[in-house]
Amino acid sequence: MTLGSKARGELGPDKGPTEWMEGRHGVGPWEGPVPEDARLDPELLAEGDRRNVVDAYRYWKREAIVADIDTRRHELHIAIENFENDSNIGTVVRTANAFAVNTVHIVGKRRWNRRGAMVTDRYQHLMHHETVADLIAWSQEQGLAVVAIDNTPGCVPLETAQLPKRCLLLFGQEGPGVSAQAQENARMTCSIAQFGSTRSINAGVAAGIAMHAWIRQHADLSRAW
Ligand SMILES: C[S@@+](CC[C@H](N)C(=O)[O-])C[C@H]1O[C@@H](n2cnc3c(N)ncnc32)[C@H](O)[C@@H]1O
Repeated sequence: MTLGSKARGELGPDKGPTEWMEGRHGVGPWEGPVPEDARLDPELLAEGDRRNVVDAYRYWKREAIVADIDTRRHELHIAIENFENDSNIGTVVRTANAFAVNTVHIVGKRRWNRRGAMVTDRYQHLMHHETVADLIAWSQEQGLAVVAIDNTPGCVPLETAQLPKRCLLLFGQEGPGVSAQAQENARMTCSIAQFGSTRSINAGVAAGIAMHAWIRQHADLSRAW
């Protein structure tokens, strides 16, 4: 029996990630002989693992989880401008973690509200850039195509656009949206089709939609949980 299947067995065969469960998340202390596995955390084995992680990672050390995700991170990077303390960054980080995004780039202010990340930032590579110019220069060095996401004049519909595989999706913040400098340096700007009265949707929601558009085009779905 594998570690993941033990945890799954305790939860019932029809259960998914433990966050979807009713009541307390996770598993109690390990029962029986402890497997010899350097990835396991002695403290979690002794006390139980109540973290918001998928069952396959129950009792694993945080570094071991990050290392495992690192073996199959996507060639997708996400950037969000943070010149006015954007409150959506936590949501963006959490979704990026769910999609095994390579790195989330914060542009502008270094500080951001981690609450919405629900601790997923501990498993996600994050990088800070002082300016948009720094981000663009870094992306060029890495051979990543920058695609801005906003509904501004000249944009192309995300619904029909072919996104580059080695890609950095760049989001703006509430109010100003994606900066002119970012759009000028982007390969293209993609918009998400809207049909109601609002001018735009929440940046965190827009990031989720755009990341999923990339996933539909480039991810190996047979490797999803
Ligand atoms: C609230 S919007 C910015 C304001 C918007 N440009 C306006 O004129 O009201 C914040 C960010 O969310 C993303 N966003 C929101 N709605 C979008 C849409 N329909 N298409 C693409 N991106 C969108 C973009 O990255 C945008 O910069």
